Amino acid sequence: MTIASITAEIDAATTSAVSLVAEAADLVALEEVRREVLGKRSVVAKIKVSIKSLPAQDRPEAGRLLSLYSESIEEALTARQAQLGGIEVSGVSVPDLSLGSHGLERGHLHLVTQVRRQLEDIFVGLGYKIAEGPEVEDDWHNFEALNIPPAHPARSMQDTLYVDLGAEEQFMLRTHTSPVQIRTMENQEPPIYVVAPGRTYRNETLDARHSPIFHQMECLAIDKNLTMADLFGTIETFARQLFDDDTVQTRFRSDFFPYTEPSAELAVSCVFCSGVGCRVCSHTGWIELGGCGMVDPAVLSAVGIDPEKWQGFAFGFGLERIAMIRYGIDEIRTFYDNDLRFLAQY
Ligand code: DAH
Repeated sequence: MTIASITAEIDAATTSAVSLVAEAADLVALEEVRREVLGKRSVVAKIKVSIKSLPAQDRPEAGRLLSLYSESIEEALTARQAQLGGIEVSGVSVPDLSLGSHGLERGHLHLVTQVRRQLEDIFVGLGYKIAEGPEVEDDWHNFEALNIPPAHPARSMQDTLYVDLGAEEQFMLRTHTSPVQIRTMENQEPPIYVVAPGRTYRNETLDARHSPIFHQMECLAIDKNLTMADLFGTIETFARQLFDDDTVQTRFRSDFFPYTEPSAELAVSCVFCSGVGCRVCSHTGWIELGGCGMVDPAVLSAVGIDPEKWQGFAFGFGLERIAMIRYGIDEIRTFYDNDLRFLAQY
């Protein structure tokens, strides 16, 4: 390497870079050119390294030539960028406002909120109202009125987080959204058609499928002459709308919940493999969503509704589970980590 050969190389690099810049057809191509002519793998980057092997008195001149190169290429890039990204108005280049801003990015709703709102829309479309209840619940609403008396083994199905409010009565973070059924029936005359979405809590250790906080949606219908056919039809309609697929099948298998009689576990045919079996449905062809059944007469009596006159059905399911199925998310914890790299994808 001599100063003469370096000068010649920089000259050649300048000519080639200037024509590459001029040829770039759009902003994406221009970025590509920027990398090529100024980046780590560019000719000048190599020249920069070889400066060390020049005689000491030639090094400042080589450095000067290199910065001249960078300056002139930067200038050419900026000019070309203005040409590509701007529009000419009577010979003056003005910014193209349709390009959008480079400042704040627009946020969006959390995935669980998106799922909740979509479900609310479906049920409102079916004539339901949205109901709410407190997250700190008393024993009556979370358990007793739901036909789960103290010391009933069904209590141990739910790992409850009790809250010490200093009162004699026991309070807890609600373990499900079912207490909203009770609160609604205490405050409204039938017929009742409500869905109650919300946060629920259990004494769980965080792992791939469990979280001490999660979300559920409860559905309650009380009317005259409601039967299990109404329950099945409602679930099928909502599942088909939710997964936007008219071929979704439903499956009900006998189960036990103290507040419904008969009770069933509810599952839908896997929307990914149409029931053939795949990773999402653990090769069973079915996806379990939650529980359901006909409201137990004891529950109606507990809230002063005559079970001889009124019947109803209820079901409940988890919201995270629906989002996990829909987007193939493996870990429930990713919903609460608040890592924008995850949340921004949905
Ligand atoms: N509360 C139940 C749970 O958290 C789910 C459930 C089952 C809700 C049956 C219902 C029902 O309304 O009828 O596991």
